[in-house]
Amino acid sequence: MNKITNLTKESTLFKVFLFCLSFLFFQFNSYSQDGKKLFKANCAACHSVGANKVVGPGLQGVTEKRSAEWLHSWIKNSGEMIASGDGDAVAIFEEYGKVIMPPQPVDDAQIDAILEYINNPNDGETAAGPTPPGGGDLTTAAPEDNSTMIYVFGAAILLLVILIFTLNRTGLFLRETIAKNEGEEYKGPTTLWESLREVMRNNKGIVAAVVIVLFFGGLLDLMDGAFEIGVHQGYKPEQPIKFSHKIHAGDDKIDCNYCHSSARHSKTSGIPSLNVCMNCHKHIDGSSGKTFMYNGKQYSMTEEIQKIYDHLDYDRETQTYGDNPTPVQWVKIHNLPDHVFFSHAQHVTAGKQKCQTCHGPVEEMDVVAQDAPLTMKWCIECHNATAVATEGNGYYDEMHARMTPEFKEQVMEDGVITVKEIGGWECAKCHY
Ligand code: HEC
Ligand code: HEC
Ligand code: HEC
Ligand code: HEC
Ligand code: HEC
Ligand code: HEC
Repeated sequence: MNKITNLTKESTLFKVFLFCLSFLFFQFNSYSQDGKKLFKANCAACHSVGANKVVGPGLQGVTEKRSAEWLHSWIKNSGEMIASGDGDAVAIFEEYGKVIMPPQPVDDAQIDAILEYINNPNDGETAAGPTPPGGGDLTTAAPEDNSTMIYVFGAAILLLVILIFTLNRTGLFLRETIAKNEGEEYKGPTTLWESLREVMRNNKGIVAAVVIVLFFGGLLDLMDGAFEIGVHQGYKPEQPIKFSHKIHAGDDKIDCNYCHSSARHSKTSGIPSLNVCMNCHKHIDGSSGKTFMYNGKQYSMTEEIQKIYDHLDYDRETQTYGDNPTPVQWVKIHNLPDHVFFSHAQHVTAGKQKCQTCHGPVEEMDVVAQDAPLTMKWCIECHNATAVATEGNGYYDEMHARMTPEFKEQVMEDGVITVKEIGGWECAKCHY
């Protein structure tokens, strides 16, 4: 029986083909990771593909302004370019308040895909975010890599099936002939299905590996989809008092922290009490009779500011408070599930993250809308991409002082530690 199995080389070939198949599968997966996905994962927290500033500049037209070579080295390590005295690099660094853009964990091919997406953000599906005026010419769209890969993948499977079938026919024929010649009764498989099962039985490890690869490949896509459930990105409810961030934080430039003061030192950011409003609205009483826009409709200042007075049971004539104040029922917009721990102070104070990175340009919104998806993927992707702001942070200074130079070099690749590396991917950090 041993002699017979040795003769049939199909199991070795089968191994080779399973290997090729899983390799192709990985290729397919990495190809489907297109520029848009890469941009969203690595850059969107700080850049738009339009002209709008987020943390960094809007990237519309950047490929015309800068050479490909410049962009590649900038994206991989902008700090190095600034240090080397590159004129453009230093200028943009100065313009953006000397914030170092962290080195991005992307390779050359991925950078090309991202730049391609920046050039044509409206190819395929409509891109989220502002449409660049005059941009997004669909006729110049590059062919999609994805579809080609699907064909290659399909062809590989077809080839595999044909090969198994042919090898199987010859193999069975050989085994039967040998058995006959040696005067033994043939006991092996006789059909394609039986021999396939025999091969699988003899190659359990590889079959398991392939099943796992296929399963998780599919599962990850499924999970990607499932995580979209219950996502309220863009949620933009009207509020009982038509309070406009555009007027207060935008036009009047009131600092976010004036009203959301607890963001810097506590877990929640909180909504200010009406007493905070009264610091100004005792005097600004809306008697000017002006109107303003909120969610595309016109409202009277007098009426909206009167609502503050009503809730506080405040009499504008006598300037006294009554005994029947009632709370305003602000509609909560951002809402993480109860099993998630999130702290504003950790991000705003220790992590030095700007409100706008997570909430978008609130100072341009009359009605606040949820800007980020608030999914686990969103948290984790930022933790993977963002460097911990170690500089001038007493806690880290002390830690660094205690490290040996060798260890420092080892943990601080490119002089950068990401949030992931300090434990930002540990389940228990975010889940109760
Ligand atoms: C943590 C925030 C952050 C992330 C993430 C980030 N950038 Fe930047 N980027 C900046 C800032 C800030 C600047 C402005 C220059 C400076 O301050 O050093 C900048 C500048 C740039 C510039 C130069 C623009 C110009 O006008 O010359 C390019 C190009 C760029 N980023 C591309 C990218 C790409 C591509 C990614 C994703 C792979 C990315 N950035 C991720 C913050 C970020
Ligand atoms: C004058 C006070 C004031 C200022 C200044 C202010 N806010 Fe607000 N903010 C409020 C009030 C009141 C609400 C609740 C009503 C609403 O959602 O519009 C609110 C709601 C929010 C929400 C939504 C909260 C939720 O329900 O999930 C976010 C996010 C927010 N503010 C961010 C900011 C940012 C960022 C800035 C600075 C650019 C800022 N705010 C400046 C008073 C203020
Ligand atoms: C630092 C001063 C300041 C604070 C604090 C402040 N406001 Fe105002 N508010 C203004 C100014 C200035 C205007 C614009 C008045 C004008 O244009 O005549 C205004 C306008 C308004 C208006 C009419 C326009 C709009 O934005 O809808 C409402 C309603 C209003 N405020 C509500 C509030 C509420 C509610 C709070 C507390 C959460 C608050 N304000 C806190 C200064 C303030
Ligand atoms: C790293 C991302 C991130 C940054 C930076 C950030 N926030 Fe938030 N913010 C969130 C998340 C996530 C929630 C939802 C929290 C929840 O539901 O428990 C939230 C909720 C809020 C709320 C609703 C009330 C609350 O605390 O749940 C307000 C108001 C708010 N943020 C304002 C701000 C302001 C102002 C800043 C800047 C000083 C800021 N945020 C910075 C992510 C962020
Ligand atoms: C814009 C980028 C960004 C986003 C989005 C973000 N984080 Fe963070 N997070 C950071 C930074 C930066 C730090 C490091 C703060 C420090 O220096 O301690 C951090 C730290 C943390 C820590 C502490 C980790 C540790 O090892 O001590 C927790 C917990 C955390 N984040 C939870 C969340 C959750 C939950 C979300 C999503 C709802 C989220 N973060 C979204 C940037 C982000
Ligand atoms: C940086 C913060 C962070 C880390 C680290 C993290 N999670 Fe989450 N996780 C979240 C947030 C935020 C949500 C809520 C997502 C939503 O509501 O869409 C979530 C949701 C979940 C859910 C529920 C799925 C759902 O759709 O609501 C499970 C299960 C989960 N996480 C498991 C894990 C496991 C296991 C780990 C460790 C491998 C982990 N998480 C690490 C932030 C985190």
